[in-house]
Amino acid sequence: MNEEEKQSLENKIKELEGLAEDLHEQFAQSFFHCMQLLTSIASLREFYYDSSHSRFVSEKSVEVAKKLGMNEADVYEVQAAGLLHDIGKLGFKDGLLAKFPNEMKESEYKQYATHPVIGKQILDKNPSLKTISEIVHQHHEKIDGSGFPNHLMGKEINPAAAIICVVDTYHNMIAKRPSSKPNSPLVSSLVIGSNSYLESTNTRFATAMNYLHSKSGNLFDTKVIEVFTDIIKAERQSLGKRVLMRVAIDKLSPGMVIAESYYSSFGLLIASQGETITEEMKRSLFKLSEVGEVPSRILVMK
Ligand SMILES: [Fe+2]
Ligand SMILES: [Fe+2]
Repeated sequence: MNEEEKQSLENKIKELEGLAEDLHEQFAQSFFHCMQLLTSIASLREFYYDSSHSRFVSEKSVEVAKKLGMNEADVYEVQAAGLLHDIGKLGFKDGLLAKFPNEMKESEYKQYATHPVIGKQILDKNPSLKTISEIVHQHHEKIDGSGFPNHLMGKEINPAAAIICVVDTYHNMIAKRPSSKPNSPLVSSLVIGSNSYLESTNTRFATAMNYLHSKSGNLFDTKVIEVFTDIIKAERQSLGKRVLMRVAIDKLSPGMVIAESYYSSFGLLIASQGETITEEMKRSLFKLSEVGEVPSRILVMK
């Protein structure tokens, strides 16, 4: 091969590398948009919670996954599966979504128990979501085999699904509104200080903690329970030491905690009481404030 041919080959390789990079970038972007779309669709069915269920499950599951030493790729799957875990409930009637499983009639429970399977069917449409789909499919499996849909046991359960199962159970116990009050206002208690947030959730918190600990090693993975309850307890302790203030959106910083829930004009939850502000949330609050969907100053605990 002469010098000219060598140069031409090198140019071709560079061109192909550039093309591969572009394709990778395009794929990453379309994957990100697909995730955003699915997440916003899933969150449309969260009217029966006092805070965003899918966001909470995703964020706290990520914290647990990191503490358990999962690698970056696995943590990303936990994050995505947490956001999408209940996407299979999309077509369910409001009356069913409002109930806790132990309040459902047999026929309702049968339908409810199909949501991990429907979730998997939705996500399987995109082959790049294969692992996320498997996690969603398993998020109601319990380590003693009493879960559903496949009664998997112990190590048969994907570790990410085992994490989501615990965080999901906790959030249902602490933030789902009792179905006896389906028309209760979206904001269950007006927060006038960090202590009132803690007081208003104290009984539910104690019940949830007792339940999780009593089922550790039986329904739930012991290590996950240990790490998750440590995270939640530390978070509540730090909430008690915070100061309440109204802060302009451009002055918000990650780590501040939302002190009252904010809803869009359509009634969709934008930011929920007790939620920690992230860079991403700050950006979306900023955009929404520009179109008047949220006030320019937000009540936070610092
Ligand atoms: Fe679920
Ligand atoms: Fe859930």
